[in-house]
Amino acid sequence: MLRIENLTCGYGAFQAVSGLSVTLRPGTITGLMGANGAGKSSTLMCIAGHVAAKQGRLWLGEREVTPLSPTERVRSGIAISPEGRRLFKDLTVEDNLKVGGLIHPVAEFKRDRDRVLTLFPRLGERITSLAGNLSGGEQQMLAIGRALMARPKLIMIDELSLGLMPKVIDLCYRALVGLRQDGMTIILVEQNTDRVLAVADDVCVLESGRMVWSGTAADARNDSNLTAAFLGLH
Ligand SMILES: Nc1ncnc2c1ncn2[C@@H]1O[C@H](COP(=O)(O)OP(=O)(O)O)[C@@H](O)[C@H]1O
Ligand SMILES: [Mg+2]
Repeated sequence: MLRIENLTCGYGAFQAVSGLSVTLRPGTITGLMGANGAGKSSTLMCIAGHVAAKQGRLWLGEREVTPLSPTERVRSGIAISPEGRRLFKDLTVEDNLKVGGLIHPVAEFKRDRDRVLTLFPRLGERITSLAGNLSGGEQQMLAIGRALMARPKLIMIDELSLGLMPKVIDLCYRALVGLRQDGMTIILVEQNTDRVLAVADDVCVLESGRMVWSGTAADARNDSNLTAAFLGLH
């Protein structure tokens, strides 16, 4: 579905991600794991086109997206809910959703919005609130909702559960499972190892910008070296 070949990116001379190659299966959740600073967010931002690739190529289905701008990548079906959410805090919930749907005709906004509000009814109750006044959980739903407004084939969610209450985390995870059922491909970056391993189909582990492990989540759970060394489980 998404094919990453030998991807290298960074900031100035510093390489945050080195030689990453991975293929995502359509309609699956891939957990991208690793310690702080391992290069997870850089990987997602590079796939979205916000951080330039120094080397490597990317394909979404049959289409190579390496030369495309961030906006063209959204049009091709790649959306991100970024670390820190980066909402437009002075805009309402509705207007944040509008921004997410800018690549589609205005006439289709209501239909797309209503689909997001069905997934996250709480956003409907807060539709006229400023994004900056939402709780952390509501902001995360809005960040995911804004990404969904583009009708992506691939959605990347960075630090899904960071700072959220367990009930809200459950709700977001249920939404992800529903999206996967609908055929969407998902990359999930998450500190909470137990939760990723419980929901993901595949897992990639980064360490200092390099992939040190990849395989199915079932294999990851059974690999005691992996869980002890990289994932902090015993
Ligand atoms: N905008 C930036 N400028 C310079 N270095 C950065 C920037 N963003 C991240 N880095 C560095 O790149 C490395 C990987 O960071 P990041 O991709 O954010 O890791 P993770 O998301 O796994 O915590 C870290 O060493 C981090 O300090
Ligand atoms: Mg990060």
